[in-house]
Amino acid sequence: MSREVVLAARKETLSGTGCFGMREERHLYIRTFGCQMNVHDSEQMEALLMKEGFRITDTDKSADLIIVNTCSIREKAEQKVYSILGRYRGLKQARPGMIIGVGGCMAQQKGAELFARAPYIDFVFGTHNIHRLPEIVKDVERNRARRVETCFHDTVYSIGIVTPPHNGSVSSFVTIMQGCNNFCSFCVVPYLRGREESRELKDIVDEITILASHGVKEVTLLGQNVNSYGNTLHNGADFPSLLKKIGDIEGIERIRFTTSHPKDLSDGLIECFATVDKLCEHIHLPVQSGSDSVLKRMNRRYDADDYLRKVNKLREVCPYISISTDFIVGFPGESESDFQKTIDLMEEVRFDNAFSFKYSARPGTAAEKLDDRIPEPVKRERLTRVQELQQIHTVEKNHALKGMVEDILVVGLSKNSHTDVSGRTKTNRIVNFEGERELIGKTVCVSIHNTYIHSLRGKLFEKERNQKC
Ligand code: 5AD
Ligand code: SF4
Repeated sequence: MSREVVLAARKETLSGTGCFGMREERHLYIRTFGCQMNVHDSEQMEALLMKEGFRITDTDKSADLIIVNTCSIREKAEQKVYSILGRYRGLKQARPGMIIGVGGCMAQQKGAELFARAPYIDFVFGTHNIHRLPEIVKDVERNRARRVETCFHDTVYSIGIVTPPHNGSVSSFVTIMQGCNNFCSFCVVPYLRGREESRELKDIVDEITILASHGVKEVTLLGQNVNSYGNTLHNGADFPSLLKKIGDIEGIERIRFTTSHPKDLSDGLIECFATVDKLCEHIHLPVQSGSDSVLKRMNRRYDADDYLRKVNKLREVCPYISISTDFIVGFPGESESDFQKTIDLMEEVRFDNAFSFKYSARPGTAAEKLDDRIPEPVKRERLTRVQELQQIHTVEKNHALKGMVEDILVVGLSKNSHTDVSGRTKTNRIVNFEGERELIGKTVCVSIHNTYIHSLRGKLFEKERNQKC
């Protein structure tokens, strides 16, 4: 999923105790590219800089500090970053005192090279250096010196920054691990986020307890491969045990997680969908391809049958579970018959939702060296076929909910109407319905009247709850 999110930090008064001391109020603007992991990294940057007296701005023009949190997963994501940096060049010419920092995966990959491409950047910081942001910004402000911090650290300091919601949000992200050891042949993440490292279970539970005390009702646990959580801890903690512990935290009503690797989806985790009441009935389980030979060249370490077996087990344990996935089309050497196997797998599973991408060769990955590249028009045509079929399945799955009553955790006002509120089903579908702002944070029963491709429309219905799973 590719998203651009604008995050900004808010603090009305300067404490004078932060490393910046007493000074004029300064404005921060963070532009985030990429996945939920990046969105949460930006929230952590925001929380750190709020402590140093930065205040929100939602326009980049008036910012004293702009941070661009980048993504390198596909080439297109990088192009978007260069295009936004081009805009900031103009802003900096107009306000030379402005500081511009670039973080995230592209910063990790390119380091000082970014200065050559965009000489007006002041600092570059990599994926393991978020916790050092206050010190880096202070140095740049005082000395007007360029900084590059892209070292990897063995610690998990850069992902354990608590970000209590300051805007009444009832849903929070919590990063439980960093890095990835899987080295899927197409993927640049292990090179840019380093080796897999899990946070201590107690630290995660403590963080979520703090979030619950701030009114958070739902947590989404983040990691590149959450179901290998605990492997680096060597103390018996694993993902199912973490889910059970979080399930005991008072105030937390819903637990979600992303992302899971099919090869590590254990029976123990599948069982959690029956035994951990607060675990939402949704799993994102990227399959990438339905062809065994493509999966082998992708180094995914499962085949289509393994995947289908796991889907069946999930559905046995939790019949209404919604399953979403990722597809890559046009991987090197993907023949028409390989591609047809992806279509066949889609027909067999009938995913609730899917994100699909054209293969993009990434520097330094094993797949970059593979021959037999697929021409762009073929990739485009295959992508369209996957997306059209998925649309049919999503519409069909959503339509099946018409007339049902669903538990909805209300998370905010609807984007499209002042009189509507919005929330999600446990199966991760957005539902809009008429309701007061006071409903935010409450779980209510809603009957579903209309279904669309990206959302459902319902009516408040308090009498009965639909406990399906
Ligand atoms: N090209 C296209 N898609 C990719 N993804 C990861 N790397 C690439 C790439 N090089 C997709 C995968 C992954 C999702 C987060 O991004 O489908 O699951
Ligand atoms: Fe990339 Fe594979 Fe790791 Fe996911 S599991 S982050 S696709 S290497």
